[in-house]
Amino acid sequence: MNNQEEKFIKVYPNSEKASLYVAGRIASLIVKKSELGQKTILGLATGATPKLVYKELIRLHQYEGLSFKTVVTFNLDEYYPMQAVDEQSYRSFMNVNLFNQVDMPSENIHIPDGTLNLEAVQAHCALYEKKIQDFGGLDLQLLGIGRTGHIGFNEPGSLVQSTTRLVHLNELTISDAIGDFGGREHVPSQAITMGIKTITQAREIILLALSQRKAEIVQKALEGTVSAAVPATYLQRFKQVEFVLDIEAASQLKGDVDSRI
Ligand code: PGA
Repeated sequence: MNNQEEKFIKVYPNSEKASLYVAGRIASLIVKKSELGQKTILGLATGATPKLVYKELIRLHQYEGLSFKTVVTFNLDEYYPMQAVDEQSYRSFMNVNLFNQVDMPSENIHIPDGTLNLEAVQAHCALYEKKIQDFGGLDLQLLGIGRTGHIGFNEPGSLVQSTTRLVHLNELTISDAIGDFGGREHVPSQAITMGIKTITQAREIILLALSQRKAEIVQKALEGTVSAAVPATYLQRFKQVEFVLDIEAASQLKGDVDSRI
């Protein structure tokens, strides 16, 4: 199946240009909503991919007056179990790569809690969903893509109706994380993640994929058959999704793309 014409794909010559575009989109949304006296509800991602986006948002804050006071964030996922203060936690990642360097009130930050007892996880996940709804839903969700085709930690087999929950990580995802954890035995085998339904309810979705490492999965995600085997394929069915790629990540696409920049 090739429904390329229904998808919006932007291909940039390098990762920096792609990241600056995404940061610009986020910044304009914050400015537009704050001018209307409204909060901006952002769904955020971790990993190597969004680092330059966050760096540019910090620059816009420091040098161009972009304020995060009206921004509320919900992160996609967190390892489980995971102490918030651990260097490898996604909470630490967000603090270092964004939150500590902008003026966002700490009470506006939401990240799944990897410290809970197992019995408390389900209620925590339900509350996470409720909090997103209480803020009126996500205005914009930023996504990366894993080499399994995961978005958030929705690994192969995840259902389109899935919501925030505890999941097992795919072996490829675990092996991709070995570098961060300094050994296979230190990588958690579980995580708490927003579900596919949580993600696809966002009013806008930007999937950012950078580098040759992602080329094969990007081709499957954008041009392959929609199936739980590659959860990112679900995004093909949602019109509010924009795929932002650098030229390397786009290198295995077979169809035309809407814009090459
Ligand atoms: P990465 O991870 O940005 O570190 O490649 C992306 C993901 O797993 O979603």
